[in-house]
Amino acid sequence: MYKIAVAGTGYVGLVAGVCFAEVGHQVTCVDIDEKKVALMKSGVSPIYEAGLTELMLKNYASGRIDYTTDYKSAYKDADAIFIGVGTPEQPDGSANLSHIATVARQIAETIEKDCLVVVKSTVPVGTNDKVEQFIQDFLIRDVKVDVASNPEFLAQGSAVDDTLHAERIIIGTESKWAEELLTKIYRPFHIPIVSVNRRSAEMIKYASNDFLALKISYMNDIANLCELVGADIQDVAIGMSFDERIGNKFLNAGIGFGGSCFPKDTKALDYIARQHGYELKTVKAAIDVNKQQKRVLYEKASKRLITFNGLKVAVLGLTFKPGTDDLREAASLANIPLLLEQGADIYAYDPVGADNFERLYPAGKNGTGSITYVAKIEHALKDASVCFIFTEWGEIKAVLPETYKSLMRTPLVYDGRNIYHVQKMQDAGVEYYSIGRKPARKDGLKESKNFELQTSGS
Ligand code: UDX
Repeated sequence: MYKIAVAGTGYVGLVAGVCFAEVGHQVTCVDIDEKKVALMKSGVSPIYEAGLTELMLKNYASGRIDYTTDYKSAYKDADAIFIGVGTPEQPDGSANLSHIATVARQIAETIEKDCLVVVKSTVPVGTNDKVEQFIQDFLIRDVKVDVASNPEFLAQGSAVDDTLHAERIIIGTESKWAEELLTKIYRPFHIPIVSVNRRSAEMIKYASNDFLALKISYMNDIANLCELVGADIQDVAIGMSFDERIGNKFLNAGIGFGGSCFPKDTKALDYIARQHGYELKTVKAAIDVNKQQKRVLYEKASKRLITFNGLKVAVLGLTFKPGTDDLREAASLANIPLLLEQGADIYAYDPVGADNFERLYPAGKNGTGSITYVAKIEHALKDASVCFIFTEWGEIKAVLPETYKSLMRTPLVYDGRNIYHVQKMQDAGVEYYSIGRKPARKDGLKESKNFELQTSGS
């Protein structure tokens, strides 16, 4: 078992640290935020993630994991240091690497024995070479340092499970020593390891994420066409999914992809290509379709209603997907400002994301409109003139079609996640619009099966 330090306790760093401890390594997680460190020591997870708190408590009690702001003590005798700090997107689409540089310098000035530095953060191709050079430039003692790339593929909401039961582990190394050490560190996970060079590893991360983003944008594009030609995107997706080359995951049309990865990684790869004088047309198309898709419900509703001014508008779901409190690039953020601008009185419900949203849009008057946060879906729907569904939380999926009919002033529902059966909504007397599906047939003939396709499972 190895002595491991992890820099950064966001989704990537904290989950990796906890999972390394779970398989038996001795882990110290480093963060600059003292309050966060104190919370983690008391077993409180700074992020909402299924199963994480339990593993934090268990491994802290057994002494296999600790949290600190004192990076010197954590790094000085570590066998491996994993970097999981953020690489936020800059206005031009490039990744901001300042946090990585700070950690690299701290490592160079602190380590007292041979050490493998492993970059888990998503970084532009070639960054690991620069990190290695940077560490060499600042190294104080006569020790060996190698840098390896080990991109992360976890999805929020299932991060612990994705890490402990990943489909593959990608390691990018430039020396036998680094490859062997990293392979040994990951051996207890019993997951296939794909060992490549550093630049290929960096590229695998972008190529994988952008492929999935493309898949979603493609389905959204086809969904919009389905509406025009009278086809049903869910039936089309089912029909496609039986072809194993296409697969049955990530075929759900909706109101675009959000989160911390797909939007950022598509723009980053587009930027990298431009830097090299190349135009990455497919990825650019995925970005464009996504931007347009986030507004389709608003545009549909704008055509149907004379105005939003003074209307009670129910919003169900604020986060970019269920199972997380993360709002980054969520469809709600693309639509709610437009609705507020138009004078809507919004009543928003989200089982875990409402507090975060309220920090961005405080309750009360906002421009000509207003926003109120409610703890119960019924409070949002009562007397509402229109309802938007932005996130497919289980609580929202459980609302019966009849509830919209009985509670709303006008049962007019715009569903960005295709959670209802078109016919059932229509039978309940709801005027229902979704993505890529035609209105229910009046003659009761063959309807969409509305099979469930898998949305996640990276
Ligand atoms: C994603 C990747 O799945 C993960 O491998 C990578 O490491 C980080 O990015 P995440 O952003 O947490 O993970 O969520 P994911 O479940 O992939 O969903 C991303 C977005 O795509 C969400 O907004 C979701 O609603 C949307 N989506 C997903 C669709 O619109 N349709 C689908 O079929 C699947």
